[in-house]
Amino acid sequence: MDLEEAINKRRTIRRFTQETIPSEILKKLIDYARIAPAGNNIQCVEYVIVESPEMREKMFPLVRWAASLPKELRTPESGREPTAYIIVLVNTNIKKSYYDFDVGAAVENILLGAVTFGIGTCWMGSIKGDKIRVLLDIPDFYEIKHVISLGYPDETSVIEPYKESFKYWKEGNEMHIPKRKLESLILKVV
Ligand SMILES: Cc1cc2nc3c(=O)[nH]c(=O)nc-3n(C[C@H](O)[C@H](O)[C@H](O)COP(=O)(O)O)c2cc1C
Repeated sequence: MDLEEAINKRRTIRRFTQETIPSEILKKLIDYARIAPAGNNIQCVEYVIVESPEMREKMFPLVRWAASLPKELRTPESGREPTAYIIVLVNTNIKKSYYDFDVGAAVENILLGAVTFGIGTCWMGSIKGDKIRVLLDIPDFYEIKHVISLGYPDETSVIEPYKESFKYWKEGNEMHIPKRKLESLILKVV
């Protein structure tokens, strides 16, 4: 799969088959993040992989799904939950500020890498950080930034032309994601 295909195919996925992701693939995704750009090349982004069924079950209530959808469509039903999570941390002993862009670059490498393995992802900022810290025994000098939920997709998602709203919607088992037109993004070419 070339880069353009991976970029086009990457859509947020929130329903998953229960086939597990091999540990080597999860580590490979973090290897992609490892070499992402970082401000001043100071590399402060670290990760926890959650893959065991026991810990997955405990992680599931600590993330919140699809705020734009009606309540009954937000959360994956039983048997369609993620089969892995990557917790994205900032080691504040390494960098104290200006790390959000590093996090974004690292996460995008993970999301695009996942596509090439046929894995769906959901980048999640709406998380219960305090509870995740206790559950995974994460020391205080780590900032818990985001969670990436992963699994083999059990729903589809398509891009729609943006009209009046950024709100995405769901019809049956398919997500519809409005994206702005290219021309509307380029302020000027000089
Ligand atoms: C920084 C960030 C935080 C997000 N947080 C959540 C979240 O907490 N829960 C969720 O279900 N989706 C979350 N998303 C996924 C977005 O809703 C999704 O990217 C958006 O609807 C566009 O869909 P697409 O990824 O398929 O292009 C987040 C995405 C980003 C970039």
